[in-house]
Amino acid sequence: MDDLKPWLRAKQKEVDSALGRFLPRESTKPQTIHKAMRYSIFAGGKRLRPILCLAAAEACGGNTDDALAPACATELMHTYSLVHDDLPSMDDDDLRRGRPTSHKVFGEGMAVLTGDALLTEVFAIIAQTPATKRYGVKEYVEEIALTGGSRKLIGGQVLDLEGEGKKLGKKDLVKIHEAKTAALLTTSARLGAMSANATPRKLEALTTFGYNLGLAFQVIDDILDVTQTTEMLGKTAGKDEAVDKSTYPAVLGLEASRKEAARLTKKALSALSVFGSKGKRLEQIARYLLEREY
Ligand code: IPE
Ligand code: IPE
Ligand code: MG
Ligand code: MG
Ligand code: MG
Repeated sequence: MDDLKPWLRAKQKEVDSALGRFLPRESTKPQTIHKAMRYSIFAGGKRLRPILCLAAAEACGGNTDDALAPACATELMHTYSLVHDDLPSMDDDDLRRGRPTSHKVFGEGMAVLTGDALLTEVFAIIAQTPATKRYGVKEYVEEIALTGGSRKLIGGQVLDLEGEGKKLGKKDLVKIHEAKTAALLTTSARLGAMSANATPRKLEALTTFGYNLGLAFQVIDDILDVTQTTEMLGKTAGKDEAVDKSTYPAVLGLEASRKEAARLTKKALSALSVFGSKGKRLEQIARYLLEREY
């Protein structure tokens, strides 16, 4: 585990500099939108989705260079979803990644457009992923488009909004989490693997890994919302309860939620056996995410 932190920092740096190259410069006209896009992208963030993409490529014998385009595409999709998630008409948040949210700085209309622009950029960038024997632009685009669409990420956000003020059961929560969060984590790992020409068996293993890791990730996000400070999180703590969201801690209690996150992480880890020692980074990431404090 000791060597994970420097590896994470190195990969975050590579991702950040690739994002800098892929995104239009601030001086590009109209400047407001390009400033706003860069403001949210470079506000920080753990870069978990691109990191998963790069680690999955490594697990499948690939390399970072070939996985950088899909890695950046997943981060752009994620950041767009946060910009919209924070809007007054959605979660109404003032703080994100330790900074005022996009709509607070640029206004609501501009924040809507910033999300739209980041999402559109996803497709221009994913199309730059080098083709392999098994996968090409068609497969890459399909993978990320279906994940971002109304059956996954957006669908999950719909269920999340509709669930406010309702008493949902565990089954409903799983449905929300798999769509709004686990789908993009799964796709991040799968795209990295595809850029490394992964066998169908390895792709399947990463699907199981990403699904369970993704569920665990949202359970922990919900736990941290209750247990952490705003300062640590870089986003407003206690927000879920304030708007009566159905979350794991609200439905199962904190202790049972922690156990559930550990159980899901274990399930994710057991899917990695097909990778042998090459799955080391993915394994370290899963363990680290379970212990994370923000
Ligand atoms: C927050 O994601 C939204 C969820 C899906 C839980 P992250 O915790 O990965 O946010 P950043 O990218 O580090 O800001
Ligand atoms: C967001 O879930 C999931 C997305 C797809 C954006 P949350 O609403 O719990 O994320 P935070 O807590 O605002 O980061
Ligand atoms: Mg939300
Ligand atoms: Mg939110
Ligand atoms: Mg949350």
